[in-house]
Amino acid sequence: MMTVLAIDAGTTGVTAVVVDADGTVVARGYQEFPQLFPRPGWVEHDPGAIWAAVRSAAARALAVAPHPPSCVGVTNQRETVVLWDRRTLAAVRPAVVWQDRRSTELCRRLRDAGHEPLVTARTGLRLDPYFSATKLAWLAAEEPSTWAGVRAGRTAVGTVDSYLAARLTAGRAHVTDPSNASRTLLYDLSTGDWSPELCALFDVPRHALPEIVATNTVVGRTDPDAFLGLDLPVAALVGDQQSALFGQACLTEGSSKCTYGTGSFMLVNTGPTAMRPGTGLVTTVAWQLAGQATTYALEGSIFVTGAAVQWLRDGLGVIPAAPAIEPLAASVPDSGGVVFVPALTGLGAPDWDPYARGAMFGLTRGTTRAHLARATLDAIAFQVRDVADAMARCTGRPLTSLTVDGGAAANNLLCQLQADQLGRPVRRPVSTESTALGAAYLAGLATGVWHGTDDIAARWRLDREFTPDPGAVDGESSRQRWRRAVAAVRGWSG
Ligand code: G3P
Repeated sequence: MMTVLAIDAGTTGVTAVVVDADGTVVARGYQEFPQLFPRPGWVEHDPGAIWAAVRSAAARALAVAPHPPSCVGVTNQRETVVLWDRRTLAAVRPAVVWQDRRSTELCRRLRDAGHEPLVTARTGLRLDPYFSATKLAWLAAEEPSTWAGVRAGRTAVGTVDSYLAARLTAGRAHVTDPSNASRTLLYDLSTGDWSPELCALFDVPRHALPEIVATNTVVGRTDPDAFLGLDLPVAALVGDQQSALFGQACLTEGSSKCTYGTGSFMLVNTGPTAMRPGTGLVTTVAWQLAGQATTYALEGSIFVTGAAVQWLRDGLGVIPAAPAIEPLAASVPDSGGVVFVPALTGLGAPDWDPYARGAMFGLTRGTTRAHLARATLDAIAFQVRDVADAMARCTGRPLTSLTVDGGAAANNLLCQLQADQLGRPVRRPVSTESTALGAAYLAGLATGVWHGTDDIAARWRLDREFTPDPGAVDGESSRQRWRRAVAAVRGWSG
């Protein structure tokens, strides 16, 4: 049986899965890598550690795979920038991660100088430190010696997909796809290419950037010496949230999903139309299939959801492991009046405030670990509701149900709280590894494992539907308290 290896290089770790022709995950490997916090608000990764994690996760999956794969698909954390030496492929400095806030002041200056309307018109995005080009402009200004290598052509610039494509092919490919490119603030949605104007604005030389190819393209073959002795076509590069949209078979206009990972990302497929962004959402490329028109999406990017659970575990020691949050939160009927705004790296959609910081409200002497756990799950559900409301306002179409995936979709209490908060059913597929599945499907489409998107849609299976309990939400009062708390954390570090 034909199988596909999908590599999901996420923010905190790499998952590798082997997917068979039925769309079933038949083998899996995972490897975490260190998170570096050199200063408050800064987040970095060692690209060498990401590459090592890719090899080790893939080796683990392949060790238990029933059949050798016929191709590889790559999906990745987006916006994070990597700079590497074109000859040795070694990173010239740590990667600056999407969560990193160092370019906050630079964004403010560009906004004050009146650049935001042009940036939004070209890219569908906004001037926020989340997006790649603001990080690159910061490096250009603050690290002249790094930037000299970029200008001289010795140093390649890219997102994690490009870096991994270079590593997998031993430097033969310097490529990206439109789903990743459209997150950089350098990609012009109307031309489907890098914008010379924006390259000039952010001081990024065009020659350092990768070539943009269709999402399901064979970009090269893996070099056996570099990658586990394998010689396989690398047949897809795709940003992780768009990959999950594909893996959830949201292939027609109007279909949407929400992925619960480090952050949570809700995307709605808008078909061949790049809808103008509004109500705190951004416009993005969903994918561009070879020889076909580009498919676009509207996205609500929430920065901290799973990362808040991780913080309860690592920062506060409230839980020993992430799954322990569910029984702990379920041990109390509600949060006891506690509201947690997990703006630990500022606020993304729909409020967008890089100066916001996290806070807990309503603490009393009766507050317990269980209330904090419950307030954390509530915060995830509230944030997703805020984005779902923004989506409905922007598209003029209210949500009928929410399809979910990602690690925290396994949490039944969260899914129920989400359904209660939305007042709409929450639908969970059998496989919640939609991100990896999307990359597998895209690579398999490029190499003949599957023959068209109907083949992909036929593989989606419902595991469970959570129906809203009308008695569970106290009218709008808990939501109003949540919105008051969000308003209170705005501008905190400004
Ligand atoms: O935009 C950031 C996103 O791509 C990160 O995804 O799954 O690593 O939290 P994840």
